[in-house]
Amino acid sequence: MSSESRHIPFSRPLLLGTEADCLQRALSNQFFSGNGPIAHGCEQRLKELCNAQGAVLTPSCTHALELAALLCETGPGDEVLLPAYAFSSTANAFAMRGAVPVFVDVRPEDMNINPRLLEQAISPRTKAVVALHYGGMACDMDALTAFAERHQIYLIEDAAQAIGATYRGRPLGSFGHLAALSFHESKNVHCGEGGALLINRTEMTERALPMRNKGTNRHEFLAGKVQAYEWTSPGSAYLMPELNAAFLHTQLQALQTVNKHRQKLWETYAKGLQPLEEAGLLQLPHPLPEAAHNGHLFFIRCRSAKERLQLSKQLSERGIEAYFHYQPLHLSPAGKRYGRKPMPLPVTERESQRLLRLPLYYELQMEDVEYIVHAIRDILGG
Ligand SMILES: Cc1ncc(COP(=O)(O)O)c(C=O)c1O
Repeated sequence: MSSESRHIPFSRPLLLGTEADCLQRALSNQFFSGNGPIAHGCEQRLKELCNAQGAVLTPSCTHALELAALLCETGPGDEVLLPAYAFSSTANAFAMRGAVPVFVDVRPEDMNINPRLLEQAISPRTKAVVALHYGGMACDMDALTAFAERHQIYLIEDAAQAIGATYRGRPLGSFGHLAALSFHESKNVHCGEGGALLINRTEMTERALPMRNKGTNRHEFLAGKVQAYEWTSPGSAYLMPELNAAFLHTQLQALQTVNKHRQKLWETYAKGLQPLEEAGLLQLPHPLPEAAHNGHLFFIRCRSAKERLQLSKQLSERGIEAYFHYQPLHLSPAGKRYGRKPMPLPVTERESQRLLRLPLYYELQMEDVEYIVHAIRDILGG
């Protein structure tokens, strides 16, 4: 195909072609609300995949984070440490309960929270720390686990992008008291909109049941343990509908195959662009040596914001879509209003303005990546 007619979208939702079989099973079961048999099958699979003690499907990762905030009983007077380079939902879940998100700077190599800065950010009000594994690259979980234990605070993983990734061979999602996953269509596996909360404390799993079912003990009623169900705790509607679970069930079966292909594409980018990094023309992501990522996203960092804009425009002229990512939370209107900034955040501010994400999804072919690498080399002159 000539470069003029070539179009490489930034992302394409995964469609295996076999989803209809499981959807048909859900239709035959005539079960459509939450907590259905297929949803339970997914939860079992997630427990195995992520080595988690408990797993509950939610309507999104945003809802899973909100459920995490409820389970930790964060509220007015509490603070939660999280990276300044993060998604709105990561902070909103806590801000919505009246707690203050406290912004910590990130490491430039992987854009994950810098554990060396945590001691500067902690206060007597700190209730939890959030480990957001950017692009499926693990945070320094040795340091974060030790920090949370030392200060007796909750460790919550925002593993929205991290399913199937590991740290020292152990699945992400198994480290925190709680971990939130996303199954939005932009993720490695998905169901359109969806999420899950992994729960690594038995006591919390029990408390989560009413919280996700409108604050009622309906689960006890359905199990024949009580004659009527009633309002027993704070809660909301945090169940995933069975049709979404059916779609997800099929996709979860393909997780390993999908991640493997995405990892190969990621490696091809990294290898192809390495000479440009060596020439000082751009910078590549550098996950921790203990981290095995899941190929969720690939980014480069240009030398300046201006160069990034030019590069994205020139790539677009060659039919290649490439996008920026998070705007620093502490500079956003809501971040300024609800958050606290206990330190300067130079890495977040500088790197977020230089970061450009390149296309990466299951349908993308190796030759597409080679074409993109070639285009970047051509434009930057490497
Ligand atoms: C780090 C992070 N956390 C949370 C979310 C929210 O996920 P969802 O769209 O499933 O609510 C996202 C969305 O992409 C994300 O990137």
